[in-house]
This record gives sequence, structure tokens and C-alpha cells, in this order.
Amino acid sequence: MEWKCVCPYNPKLKLKDIYIYDTTLRDGEQTPGVCFTKEQKLEIARKLDELGIKQIEAGFPIVSDREAEIVKTIANEGLNAEILGLCRALKKDIDKAIECDVDGIITFIATSPLHLKYKFNNKSLDEILEMGVRAVEYAKEHGLFVAFSAEDATRTPIEDLIKVHKAAEEAGADRVHIADTTGCATPQSMEFICSELSKNLKKAHIGVHCHNDFGFAVINSIYGLIGGAKAVSTTVNGIGERAGNASLEELIMALTVLYDVKLNLNIEVLTELSKMIEEYSGIKLPKNKPIVGEMVFYHESGIHVDAVIDNPLTYEPFLPEVIGQKRNIVLGKHSGCRAIAYKLKEMGIKVNKEELCEIVKRVKETREKGIFIDDEVFKKIVEEVVRR
Ligand code: KIV
Ligand code: ZN
Repeated sequence: MEWKCVCPYNPKLKLKDIYIYDTTLRDGEQTPGVCFTKEQKLEIARKLDELGIKQIEAGFPIVSDREAEIVKTIANEGLNAEILGLCRALKKDIDKAIECDVDGIITFIATSPLHLKYKFNNKSLDEILEMGVRAVEYAKEHGLFVAFSAEDATRTPIEDLIKVHKAAEEAGADRVHIADTTGCATPQSMEFICSELSKNLKKAHIGVHCHNDFGFAVINSIYGLIGGAKAVSTTVNGIGERAGNASLEELIMALTVLYDVKLNLNIEVLTELSKMIEEYSGIKLPKNKPIVGEMVFYHESGIHVDAVIDNPLTYEPFLPEVIGQKRNIVLGKHSGCRAIAYKLKEMGIKVNKEELCEIVKRVKETREKGIFIDDEVFKKIVEEVVRR
């Protein structure tokens, strides 16, 4: 049976060999107030690995001894995913990451005029470039995979960005990152930046790291890929600094369902992973959060329920079970006979036609009195009608 049905005018993106590097354990943990335990980080890493994520940014080793110990434990867990650690463009950060046995690092330095002036006390772009190059060379000498990230890249003049990234590539960087640090890019500007960069690089992949300050993180990531990026950064549930990062589950399902991109991931674990992050981060998901929200496959309206019973794709873009989500028929003032009959069948209760009509009437009345019709309330209504 077909499991998805989308707008026929969506372009099928011919994106090959694109991959996700997930930063739930690093940028996700930078969500104010979030601090995962070692066991939680390990469990999250294992679940990301089960999903099939190619690279996991496990943490920022220089932050603390505890952080370094956790990154080291994850790196030695024998996962299929490569384990990366975040480092500033400083030797001491890279040494700490090396002590943690990581497969690679993401080394970052800010490049925008605003950051050069205020963070680096008027350092010049050339000085920054020099620091970046030294960091990349040093990490490469130690045999690491190296991604070089230009922090605040999207507020950096394009010629500066190209200059810095070309220098990083020449120094041996395997990948260069466009960090949309304050989420201020648009899909068009991300596509522009990535395609300009593609024209100027010889072999380094481009990665995009998008923040969600305007709710654009997922679509900006997709347009980065359209512009020529190969790698994309995510966090589960989109947790992260301020409004967070590109949400892993939204990005995966948008690429897979809407744009027909093959990612070769075990998407059936997505809901479980999302629930794990909700619990461990303490960041509650809105019930209508796209893809993983508790209620995004709930149906109440009689018209919808009627059609969904015959074919769920009438009112669902894809079947919830493919990501471990659940459909639910909610009873309320919009419910019709079919929804009630469906619920009764689900509960193994048989009634005659007259009883069914009475139950429908009482369900509507009860809901309109402000009472939510959960299974208990529904059973009570049914018992009252059948006992009459
Ligand atoms: O958003 C950002 O700029 C980052 C850097 C550490 C790369 O997360
Ligand atoms: Zn970030």
C-alpha cells in the first residue's frame, strides 16, 4: 500500500549522497537549562546510530572534564556513526578532542564583521583566517576528519567567506560549514551562498548548520542542499540555542516525503528518539509539533474520520506508523456515527443502531459541557445507554 501522497508539483530533488551530521548532543545541549547525563548522552547516541546518522557531534570536549569523559565514552562505544567533537580554532581544544578518541572535529571561528569587531576586538579577517588554517592543519596532522565552520557565515561578505573557506580547504579541511548562527538567512540566500562556495571549492564538501530564529532552519537547510551542500546539521526536536536548530525529524521527513530524496535511514525510530529527547531535555513538545507532536495524526471531524477510515491518506500526508507515530480518532462534538462505530469496534463493544444514535448524541452533549471524551468517559456513556 502507498504510504505517502503529496503535491504532484513538488520537485523531485536529485540529491545524491547527502548526509546528516546531528548535533543534539552539542548544540542541542546548549539549549539554556539542558544538561544531559552521561547515560542519557550515550543512549541518545545509540539511538541516533540506530537511525543511521552518519556523523554524531558528541559534545564540546574542552567545556569540562565530565564533557570530555562522555565524548570519549561515546567515541569508544563502537557505533557505526563517526563521532565528532567541537573545538574552537585553538590547539588546546583540538588536543582535548584528540584525547577523547574522536574520529573528527568541527573547528569554528567567526568571520562576520560584527564578530571580528566585538568578539575579537577588531582582529582582521586575515588573522582569523590564519588561526583557522593553523587549526585545520594541526588536526589533519593527527589524522582526523576535519570540518571547518565559519561562525556567523551568513552575515559575512561572500568574498570573505570564499577566501576563508578556500584557505581551509587548501589546509586540508574535508568539509566547510556555513553556520547561520542567528538564523537570519532565507532559503534564497542559503542557496546563493552554497552555490557560490561550490564554484570556488575543489573537493571539500559543504555543510549547512541552520538556526531557527525565524522558523526557517529546515527550509534553509534544504535550499543549502539545493545550492550544492552535501551535509546538513540537525538536532532532535529542533532543540538548541534560542529558537533552536533544524529539526532532525522535520528535515528527514520533508526530504523523504516531499522531495523524494533517498536518505537510507531507519525512520521508524524517529518518534521514540523524539520522546527520548523530550524526556531527557525537559523541553516539552507542542502537541501539534510537525511530524512528532502527540496530536498530529489525531482526527476528530466526522468528515475527516469518515474518509480516514477508508483511506488514511485522505487526511494524512504519510502514514504515521512509518515513523512509529500513532493515529487516533478523537471523539467530540464533530464526531459522526462512523467515528463512534469505529471506536466501539476498537473497544470490542457491540450496540444496535438505536443505541449508536443515542451514544453519538450523548458524546456531543458531553463534549459541549466541557468534558473531554477520553476512553473512560466514552465507556461510561456507552454503559449508560446500553443499560437503559
Ligand atoms: O551556530 C553556530 O554558529 C555554531 C558554531 C559553534 C558553529 O553552533
Ligand atoms: Zn549552532
